[in-house]
Amino acid sequence: MIYFDNAATSYPKPPEVYEAMLKFMQELGGNPGRSGHRMATGAEGMVSECRNALSKFFGGKDPNRCIFTLNCSDALNMAIKGTVNRGDHVITTVLEHNSISRPLQQMADDGFITLTRVDPEIQGEWQVDEIMKSVTPKTKLVALTHCSNVLGVINPVAELGMALRAASDTITYLVDAAQSAGVVPLDMEAAQIDLLAFPGHKALFAPTGTGALIIGSRLKENALRFWREGGTGGDSTSPHHPAELPHRLEGGTPNTMGIAGLLAGIRFIGKQGGVEKVLEHERKIVKHLIDALSADTRFTLYGTKDLSKKVGALSITIKDRDNAETASILDQAFSIAVRPGLHCAPYTHKHLGTFPTGTLRLSPGYFSTVEEAAEVVKALQEIAS
Ligand SMILES: Cc1ncc(COP(=O)(O)O)c(C=O)c1O
Repeated sequence: MIYFDNAATSYPKPPEVYEAMLKFMQELGGNPGRSGHRMATGAEGMVSECRNALSKFFGGKDPNRCIFTLNCSDALNMAIKGTVNRGDHVITTVLEHNSISRPLQQMADDGFITLTRVDPEIQGEWQVDEIMKSVTPKTKLVALTHCSNVLGVINPVAELGMALRAASDTITYLVDAAQSAGVVPLDMEAAQIDLLAFPGHKALFAPTGTGALIIGSRLKENALRFWREGGTGGDSTSPHHPAELPHRLEGGTPNTMGIAGLLAGIRFIGKQGGVEKVLEHERKIVKHLIDALSADTRFTLYGTKDLSKKVGALSITIKDRDNAETASILDQAFSIAVRPGLHCAPYTHKHLGTFPTGTLRLSPGYFSTVEEAAEVVKALQEIAS
């Protein structure tokens, strides 16, 4: 199978990830922090190591501010619902995945918040000035994506961070790094990001069921309300959930096997020479796709073609062809995996004029090759004719 669906979840994972997960299950396997025996303390040590590695990876100042979550949606929900209060104003954009759009829309529909959804410019990038124009004295949260999952276009999150900080002390800045974590270098403190949400299972190479929310140093330890209370392995004499991070926002046994995979994924990126190497590789493949497909008038390509603003995801449509049918032919006849449709980002497709049928998203990853991209192009050309 040629797997060009890495924007959904990465495949394959590096061999080190599979090995680390199996080794953890077979040799450690205890419940972290729950008992004093060596399997439990070993598991706790691995979880702490992963917190440290993630925090360092994204420029976090304190590993205890790295909260493990189920996925990126879970981290975004934790951030959004933990931050806003009745009457607050929130700014987001049309480039968002439903994991930001839906919780905010529901709150707006319930009359809990007022919401501004900013349009990007046509190449698929939101503009710092447009976001700043929407700021009001009631703005509590700015929640938006680092990189569109439909267009693969990178947004200027650091510039916006500077502008927001210069304008206000009270706005919380939440960035969804689902498509950039592990691909685009990001130092959250330098970029003035307060809350960074990301999955483990995409470009950080961990299995599904992994993700995290990192809380920036500017926010107080109790800035986010918790909504998941329970056992943390800590002081069980207290009738209440612990007030300290990370346990404040974590309750119950964590996904230790997934976290073992996540730790191995981050180490793998380090061994490859860092995030820059991953980005360079993805751009090489996406360049091949852009060059070949934009030379053929039967294909329409969406978003910028400027590689310096892109990760390895490209949305296209084919003249007179149905996206879902094309994806099915690619799967059945060519053994190629891509994703058709709306990609959980309906507002983006409305903006592009591709709603409700969407586009065909080609998303190569670190293990994809230029030869595979050539085969994908050949298959698409055959389908187009
Ligand atoms: C931009 C963006 N945000 C959030 C998510 C949600 O991620 P998860 O599936 O890990 O919840 C995705 C998933 O594709 C995404 O692309």
